[in-house]
Amino acid sequence: MAEQSAITPNPVDISKYRDDFPVLSTKMNGKPLAFLDSGASAQKPTVVIAAMDAVLNKGYSNIHRGLYSISQKLTEDFEAVRVRVSRFINAPSEKNIVFTRNTTDAINLVAQSWGKAHLTASDEIILSEMEHHANIVPWQLLQQEIGFTIRTIPFDERGVLDMQAFERALNQHTKFVGVVHTSNALGTINPVKKIVEIAKDFYPDIKVLVDGSQSVVHGVVDVADIGCDFFTFTGHKIYGPTGIGVLYGREEVLASMPPYQGGGDMIERVSFNATSFKEPPYRFEAGTPPIVEVIGLGVAIDYVSAIGMANIAAHEAGLLTYATQKLQDIDGLKIHGTAPDKAGILSFTMDGAHPSDIGMILDQCGVAVRSGHHCCMPLMERLGLDATARASLGLYSNKADIDQLIEGLKKVGDMFS
Ligand SMILES: Cc1ncc(COP(=O)(O)O)c(C=O)c1O
Repeated sequence: MAEQSAITPNPVDISKYRDDFPVLSTKMNGKPLAFLDSGASAQKPTVVIAAMDAVLNKGYSNIHRGLYSISQKLTEDFEAVRVRVSRFINAPSEKNIVFTRNTTDAINLVAQSWGKAHLTASDEIILSEMEHHANIVPWQLLQQEIGFTIRTIPFDERGVLDMQAFERALNQHTKFVGVVHTSNALGTINPVKKIVEIAKDFYPDIKVLVDGSQSVVHGVVDVADIGCDFFTFTGHKIYGPTGIGVLYGREEVLASMPPYQGGGDMIERVSFNATSFKEPPYRFEAGTPPIVEVIGLGVAIDYVSAIGMANIAAHEAGLLTYATQKLQDIDGLKIHGTAPDKAGILSFTMDGAHPSDIGMILDQCGVAVRSGHHCCMPLMERLGLDATARASLGLYSNKADIDQLIEGLKKVGDMFS
């Protein structure tokens, strides 16, 4: 994502891909659907739907243990996705890739496995104030058991992290830093490579987790370049299915972690005297995995890779500029999140209209946006708000979606001014 700031305002035309998403040619409340809620969950291209359908119709079985041909074929296809995911984020190998249910599950895994094994009551961890609840609550649950301290990194009025405050928060007790790569509520792209450098310069053994739920969707991600110990993302935001997420872990860090859950598929040998576990990543994948969802994720990754993440980022950067200008022209509208390095996420409030009113009126205009705290209550508290309305872009978003949003917001303005 470091490349984001270097993107020229000359977006590549990727409009032809919009036709790959059948839902986008439907109507909502009698109006063409302007889907501006991809930050919550993205629509699925037909190739993903077809691939999952094909597995279920023509080649489904359980994987890993079947000696018959369709099970072996599906096992190969499943494991090939692990390789594709590792290449997609430039991980050294497929051994770094653990399949989880989603980002939330991935961070809970890190907290319950790495955290429980390595944190003590006198330790400290640092989280940013713009974290999604998925990167706060798992640590608080563990804190209740262990009793360590959680410090936070504040952000300024633009939504830029206070790096000096981060440096001040580091001390000899710091064991872990967790930071969101791209904020789902503000759009800020955080300098995660710098954060890793600062933490590791302070003490090389500090572990850094980057929540990449929004960043893998909006730009090129290179975990080797970032240098983090953990990186997480979720399939349904990257045009894949729900029920599948990814935890990337550095090999030696994963090797230092005990199993998170026990059951089938994660063991080498079980007896009532002693049970031994498989090596990572399999040690962390107890039970039958989301087989069909993994296949869907693999196709989603192939799909965005074929378009090119840099092209998607450039397209969205162009649209973000267009939308920002148009929104700024609306009387009484305030954009929250104006960081110089920003992805296609626009949070805003309007004088006199609550974000839920904005959401409901836009719905009548065929425009899907999200209103609420976006699972970032501490961030909202910092902004002094209980909610914002949020329009978030996907690779299929276009100027017509933005124009429809602006027309809807003018109606909101007329009704509430
Ligand atoms: C930045 C960020 N982190 C974590 C999550 C949680 O993702 P999931 O609900 O798929 O676990 C989200 C989803 O909105 C997100 O935007």
